[in-house]
Amino acid sequence: EKGGYEHFMLKEIHEQPVAIAKTIAGRFKDGIPDFSESGITAEMLGKYKRIYMVACGTAMHAGLVGKYLIEKLARVEVTVDIASEFRYRSPLIGEGDLVILISQSGETADTLAALKLSKKLGADTLSVVNVIGSSIARESDYVIYTHAGPEISVASTKAYSVQLTIMYMLAFQLAYVRGVIDADQCREYVRKFQEIPDEITALLEDKEQYQYIASKLMNADSLLYIGRGLDYATSMEGSLKLKEISYIHSESYAAGELKHGTISLITEGMPVIAIATQEDLLEKTISNVLEVKARGAMVVMLCKEKAQVASNVADYMIRLPDCEDFLAPMLTSIPIQLLAYYTAVLKGRDVDKPRNLAKSVTVE
Ligand code: F6R
Repeated sequence: EKGGYEHFMLKEIHEQPVAIAKTIAGRFKDGIPDFSESGITAEMLGKYKRIYMVACGTAMHAGLVGKYLIEKLARVEVTVDIASEFRYRSPLIGEGDLVILISQSGETADTLAALKLSKKLGADTLSVVNVIGSSIARESDYVIYTHAGPEISVASTKAYSVQLTIMYMLAFQLAYVRGVIDADQCREYVRKFQEIPDEITALLEDKEQYQYIASKLMNADSLLYIGRGLDYATSMEGSLKLKEISYIHSESYAAGELKHGTISLITEGMPVIAIATQEDLLEKTISNVLEVKARGAMVVMLCKEKAQVASNVADYMIRLPDCEDFLAPMLTSIPIQLLAYYTAVLKGRDVDKPRNLAKSVTVE
């Protein structure tokens, strides 16, 4: 059942190229993303005043990437909330707003409660769900299914990638229906996105470097994940995945925020994993990396192939294929998953069933 893999998590990591391809298949009209099968038409998407993303954990991180993408590409305001916060903070939503609930299981209690509240307040609700017929799928006005197939490992991997996939498709479609880009540009975005599954397949081939870097992380008491912009969203996910299954304390920080307190944590040898795929932010992130390096941090850096980074900046460098900056989260998801996986394996953890956790959180 694990298809020759040692753990479900590793199997599911390798299933990502297929899951992504399945999730986009058949969801285009003249080459433009289209979700009218779910009842959510281009016309409706063109009209919402505000968009909210509400979810928990990894699914919330997918929503964060969605916010950056939609705001950048489609110029629509997006607010992201943790479901357990949203439902108790008297959210200012109502008619004309769209609330997008993201959930692998479709059963997360707080996300379901946030959905019910949003409906009560008059907003339209769209769920992005993996499990067909689950409570969140049934209760929402519209549902877009991700097609990851069953995810057994408690730590979410392929479900995250397909949630991201839907975020990209919605961002592309919104950018088009809002007139920010024309049809050709939209098709060009889609064409570039369609190269992602093959690029992931190629990335998955190089396991040794992740095993090697994991061997450098495994004895840390604590580590930091840093990044800016889209890379900050990915660093949040990287940090969660790593702490969840390896039990090494980890935090993620916006790189520019370190000097406002957190940098005092840096001691000799503490790992700092810096994600720096965004060209316009590269210099800024490098300067933050040099600040932690000067205080003894052991730096692991994730950059694109073409990024110019001096050899004294990082102790270990992970290179990603060159891609449009906005697509980077699809590729950086692989190193962060594999670093978490191999670190947990080296520590002898119960990778697929980390302590104290359940796959589906149906309690509040
Ligand atoms: C972390 C993880 C969790 C879930 C969260 C939401 O690896 O899997 O953070 O993402 O519990 O679950 P769903 O998506 O089922 O609502």
